[in-house]
Amino acid sequence: MAKLNIVGVGPGSPDYVTPAARKAVAQAQIVIGAQRSLDLFASEVNGETLILTAKNLHEALKYAAESLNSGKNVALLSTGDPGFSGLLHTVLESGLFNAENITVTPGVSSIQACAAKIALNWDTTCLFTFHEGNVTAEDKNHLLTCVKNNKNVMLLPDSRAFPPKEIATFLITSGVEKKIPVYICENLTLENEKITSSTLEKISAQSFVPLCVMVIKPNSK
Ligand SMILES: C[S@@+](CC[C@H](N)C(=O)[O-])C[C@H]1O[C@@H](n2cnc3c(N)ncnc32)[C@H](O)[C@@H]1O
Repeated sequence: MAKLNIVGVGPGSPDYVTPAARKAVAQAQIVIGAQRSLDLFASEVNGETLILTAKNLHEALKYAAESLNSGKNVALLSTGDPGFSGLLHTVLESGLFNAENITVTPGVSSIQACAAKIALNWDTTCLFTFHEGNVTAEDKNHLLTCVKNNKNVMLLPDSRAFPPKEIATFLITSGVEKKIPVYICENLTLENEKITSSTLEKISAQSFVPLCVMVIKPNSK
């Protein structure tokens, strides 16, 4: 049975692409991914490629479903890990695929790269994604509750709907102590990686690149 393999490609550096991801791409007849992701597999791609853009996602998934029906294996490249704010959710929501046709190859998430970079133990951390404007009042309340309960938070901001400065402002105006430590980890694993160690107050007046993870650390452990 032909498979759609949703392949996690890591946070950006080729050093974080797993051998399993390289094998999955080499075995696919069709490889679909953003140009930045496809570039990581220049030596492995044997089949046809389809460049994913913000505009053609639905058409690309339809093409992937048709290709499976005609017996071709498809690799769909997803940055970081497919299961955290990645393409697994999009594929499951599309209704175009049967569960038995889907496999997932895990990748190193930007969340993991971030935690490692600042030596953060993240097994009790609250995780959020606000990526692509996914900002609900319920999520904001949950975020506030985590911080007020001294839980460390790792989150993917949204550069337009909820960037780090607005997250910091929201927390301060909701009564959170403004000296709480915050890290902003930009371009993780890439040559222009930048780690900013700061406070909620200072972050509320700063801007960062969209490719970043924000850590709010009310708890020093
Ligand atoms: C669509 S989400 C994909 C998340 C991905 N599935 C993961 O596990 O990292 C894209 C967001 O992930 C974060 N991100 C991905 N790669 C990153 C990197 N190299 N450095 C910092 N943040 C990154 C940014 O917040 C970016 O806007």
